[in-house]
Amino acid sequence: MRIIYDRTTLADTLVIFGVTGDLAHKMIFPALYAMAKHGTLNVPVVGVASSEWDLVQLRNQARESIRKSVEIDDQSALNHLLSLLQYVSGDYNDPNTFKALKQALGDAQRPTHYLAIPPTLFATVIKELGATGLANQARIIVEKPFGRDLASARELNRTALAVFPEDSIFRIDHYLGKEAIMNILYFRFANSFLEPFWNRNYVASVQITLCEDFGVKGRGAFYESVGCLRDVIQNHLFQIVALLAMEAPAYQGFGAVHSEKAKVLQAMRPLHPDDVVRGQYTGYRQESGVAENSNVETFCAMRLHIDSWRWEGVPWYLRSGKFMAATAAEVLVELKPPPQKLFDDSAAPNERANYLRFRLSPNSALALAARVKHVGKEFVGDQRELFLLDEQPAEETPYERLLSDAMAGDGALFTRADAVDAAWAAIDPILDIPRTVYSYEQGSWGPKQADALFSAGGSWHNPIPMKEKK
Ligand code: BG6
Repeated sequence: MRIIYDRTTLADTLVIFGVTGDLAHKMIFPALYAMAKHGTLNVPVVGVASSEWDLVQLRNQARESIRKSVEIDDQSALNHLLSLLQYVSGDYNDPNTFKALKQALGDAQRPTHYLAIPPTLFATVIKELGATGLANQARIIVEKPFGRDLASARELNRTALAVFPEDSIFRIDHYLGKEAIMNILYFRFANSFLEPFWNRNYVASVQITLCEDFGVKGRGAFYESVGCLRDVIQNHLFQIVALLAMEAPAYQGFGAVHSEKAKVLQAMRPLHPDDVVRGQYTGYRQESGVAENSNVETFCAMRLHIDSWRWEGVPWYLRSGKFMAATAAEVLVELKPPPQKLFDDSAAPNERANYLRFRLSPNSALALAARVKHVGKEFVGDQRELFLLDEQPAEETPYERLLSDAMAGDGALFTRADAVDAAWAAIDPILDIPRTVYSYEQGSWGPKQADALFSAGGSWHNPIPMKEKK
């Protein structure tokens, strides 16, 4: 599966809706700067937003956001990026905004529109792009969350598909642009030793933790509208599950990968309220933009099942939370213990059996844990990790990679409509039900009630924080 961009279909303009917003500030400008440095950004970048700014303010904002995120070590790349910028100010509900955009686009033939705006505005902008003729030959990148539930995701898909063909819609999930996550697909299907044990006969459970040692970081109002489940589980964590659980793609091509991932999500058993534990860190209600009686979860843990031939009976434990004890994303695929206990020390009740550990973030690593004997007369040993990959720095940030891919029309690392639909279908039964939200201390591993999800045995694996670089 090689990614080769066809130059004849490259976007000739990038339009960023929400260019004065938080996402543009934190992620998009640094990604554009990286693209400028790598020589892959050579088209006009038209920012759109309701703020009454001028081009000078936008350029200052761009410079500032890049400076905050990386060291500016290539002044000519920065100047190049700033020279590409244009700005259109206007209300998204006003058709005149789109007329002004059309004018700014001039004779652009293949613009890529990026919706870095609140999800409530996605449909409005898509419809206006269609009405103004700005969707012809164009592509659209839609930020997450794509919908709020199954019904709204379907509605948004219908709206988008009425204006753009499926292969011009790029539903972004920046986790898919991470090296360590691409490596799951590669590692699983570039090796033959895995396949014999990668199933219900040998795998006891799989768990995925995405924890962060910080809170909502000023995004209280946004977070109130989503909560942990919609913010990271329905998308980032489910995408990881799909890559870990999928069957081998039937042919060499990302269409086949998309199909196999969608099948996993379709085989997920719809969640039951007993399979979910929600938590909220102490102090969340005092965050700006948060309701004083909010019961939005900042932590969520769940037990899921994939009703497929390969995974029947294997529990999948997923957990994510803000203000936890570490910042990391890890997968632990735990194997069943040997059938017979031949050594006194092996498979002690509190000890993990062999496992594969994928460290996904903030650094990447891949380790296989197996027991080895200690030197001496006794047949005792311990479990050690054999590192297959350690600290592989990425060449591109996920946003740089995904933005370049979308502008080139390459949908390999984006989510397809059927997968988004199936992911919502799995969590729809537990989305807006009356819920208990347990409080947990900042810096902890979340509410202890989440431990009860392991009623069939086992326990959470807590990722180790990344060591500070000296
Ligand atoms: C985003 C969520 O999609 O992912 C954030 O909105 C979360 O709440 C972030 O912090 C985590 O991504 P990463 O790449 O920092 O692990």
